[in-house]
Amino acid sequence: MLKKVNLEGKRALITGAGGGIGRAIALRLAEDGMKLALTGRDYSKLVRTAALTGRPLDMLVLPADLTKQKDVDDIFHILGGHFKGLDVLVNNAGMALNKPFEETTMDEYDRIMAINARAPFELCKRSLPLLRQSECPTIVNIGSVVAHKGYMQQSAYAASKHALLGMTKALAKEVAPEGIRVHMLSPGGVYTDMVKIARPDLSEEGMIAPEEVAELAAWLIEHRSNGVIDEIQLHRVGKEPFL
Ligand SMILES: NC(=O)c1ccc[n+]([C@@H]2O[C@H](COP(=O)([O-])OP(=O)(O)OC[C@H]3O[C@@H](n4cnc5c(N)ncnc54)[C@H](OP(=O)(O)O)[C@@H]3O)[C@@H](O)[C@H]2O)c1
Repeated sequence: MLKKVNLEGKRALITGAGGGIGRAIALRLAEDGMKLALTGRDYSKLVRTAALTGRPLDMLVLPADLTKQKDVDDIFHILGGHFKGLDVLVNNAGMALNKPFEETTMDEYDRIMAINARAPFELCKRSLPLLRQSECPTIVNIGSVVAHKGYMQQSAYAASKHALLGMTKALAKEVAPEGIRVHMLSPGGVYTDMVKIARPDLSEEGMIAPEEVAELAAWLIEHRSNGVIDEIQLHRVGKEPFL
């Protein structure tokens, strides 16, 4: 039986919420009446997201660099205290890197793994005690089609998203018996700053809109049934996805 969850007043933490896909997810979940903790490095971009929801007073703006332990500790201190718990975690923050394999430095490799794979691992780990007290505990990890394939000049990015997919699948099995749902949403090229910087040759036409990804994330969070969805891939029509 497919059950629709009433998300009014439920609480979500969204990473990378200052723009792109993260902002679109925030705006979509705000429409459902959720209270949101919005995190990212850039305070002003987070404040803008909060304002765009039309309910800035229900939004918590938490500037943080997810590769810094103190920043992560501060987020969970506030979630467990002032925010009074957590129902949904959206691991969206991430970075891309377009570079030939041999030119990719080990510092770049460590950085991309830290934000795309290690940070979501830690955030899942830290969220579980809070999610266990929720009626609709859900984690949505924003992966990528590169979690499945290899694309030229994306070895480090692909490694990080493959790692995220592996973690998602294993964790989903581990916590499913407790009613905690863990999903990965893997889009192809979405028209955001990430793409505008990495591929300035591409135009908006034919690209996936951040709102399309947000709609799927909202669906995953809103619906519960006996069937479990582990991953959704979203490809551009007629294109070999590049991201
Ligand atoms: N765009 C695409 O084509 C595409 C396709 C597949 C998957 N994705 C994935 O979608 C997710 C969102 O990307 P996007 O396209 O929306 O790009 P974006 O606009 O560049 O968003 C990335 C977000 O990650 C945050 N972030 C990066 N490093 C961080 C750090 N160390 N600590 C905290 N936050 C950090 C940024 O925050 P600040 O701005 O505050 O620094 C930014 O808001 C990423 O995981 C990306 O890999 C994107």
